[in-house]
Amino acid sequence: MSKFDANFLKKDFPIFDNNKDLVYLDSAATTQKPKQMIKAIVDFYEKYNSNVHRSIHELGESSTCFYEQAREKIAKFFNAEPEEIIFTKGTTESINFVADAWAKKNVLKGDSIVTTQVEHHANFLPWMRIAKRNEAKLKYLEIDTNNYSVKDPDNSFWDSGVKLVAVSGNSNVLGDIWQKGQLEKIIDKASSIGAKVLLDASQLAPCKKIDVKKLKVDFMALSAHKMLGPTGIGVLYIKKSLHNKVEPYQVGGSMVQAASFHDVVWKNSPYKFEAGTPPIAQAIGFGAAIDYLNNINFDDFSDHTTNLCNILLDGLQKISGIKIWGNVDKIRKDGHLVCFSLKDVHAHDISGFLGNENISVRSGHHCAQPLATVLRINSSVRVSFYLYNTPKDVQIFLEKLDKTIKFFRN
Ligand code: ALA
Repeated sequence: MSKFDANFLKKDFPIFDNNKDLVYLDSAATTQKPKQMIKAIVDFYEKYNSNVHRSIHELGESSTCFYEQAREKIAKFFNAEPEEIIFTKGTTESINFVADAWAKKNVLKGDSIVTTQVEHHANFLPWMRIAKRNEAKLKYLEIDTNNYSVKDPDNSFWDSGVKLVAVSGNSNVLGDIWQKGQLEKIIDKASSIGAKVLLDASQLAPCKKIDVKKLKVDFMALSAHKMLGPTGIGVLYIKKSLHNKVEPYQVGGSMVQAASFHDVVWKNSPYKFEAGTPPIAQAIGFGAAIDYLNNINFDDFSDHTTNLCNILLDGLQKISGIKIWGNVDKIRKDGHLVCFSLKDVHAHDISGFLGNENISVRSGHHCAQPLATVLRINSSVRVSFYLYNTPKDVQIFLEKLDKTIKFFRN
């Protein structure tokens, strides 16, 4: 019996008051928002709306103070330093940032970038583009299609041309793709050959506590909206020792120490990397989401989503012609999402029908088309859980799925 009380937490999420029968199972796309986070944003606009790092009037002082406090909270959550936390629009912008402001000058002709076959387009297309532009190579850690884990490559894979290893902490389709300790080993390997490591933490950070110092990553990208925060804001973590090696991604207001007609001196990080008016309300909202997550015991939370996955898998595995995408044993031990497809009913038909029954799931290739090619699937249904989901949600889902399948099979 889990110690985790999802029914109690659910009361903090107004969306469920406003949509009484909603069964929301699409949190890997975006989570719902607690009232505490929404209030932080409303308070900003209603009580102290003002720009940051500019005006020294009282409102300006307040907004700057709350904005920087949010950065400090986020830094502490990931065991980073505040100056290592750069606010961006989200994971996609964070990764494009590194591609443009670091990789463009550091991954040159003949060099290579290592990624995996499971990446979301956000952690693949920026590298494909930089590799083409700089005549560099893109190398893939392959996925074993029997157990859906990353295969260990030969030693020759890790040649001195590898300048960057850019991998996801968790796949948005398969869940955990790493063998025990494998990610840590890859990070050590990268560092031993002088390559930098970027972690796409957009699917990992919402479910597992990440310690950037322990994990020894150089860059980390994530989105607030997948961990109770608002849309339009994310984080790029840049390790302190790299601050002088990364260019500003954008240039403009607020990030300049001194500028003349001919030259410019940037401020130090994080300001050097945050040109223009930042997403102030969103940063403060993200800080409030982090406050909320600080009250969650992540081990109990993980047991809870794993329990939901087990109830779901027990039901799904009784359905004829079903294919589960992902390592079922792993999901049963520590999972938060399940992807599946049926031979005879299209994933979009399933999610569309369920949508009419007030059940939200995602279907499609989940922005990971290269992976879909490796797995030879064109579409799957994804059920993803977060801290407000209950066993009752899963029961309702399974009943409605049964109704959906009967409708299409008859
Ligand atoms: N990357 C998000 C997902 O997997 C949007 O749904």
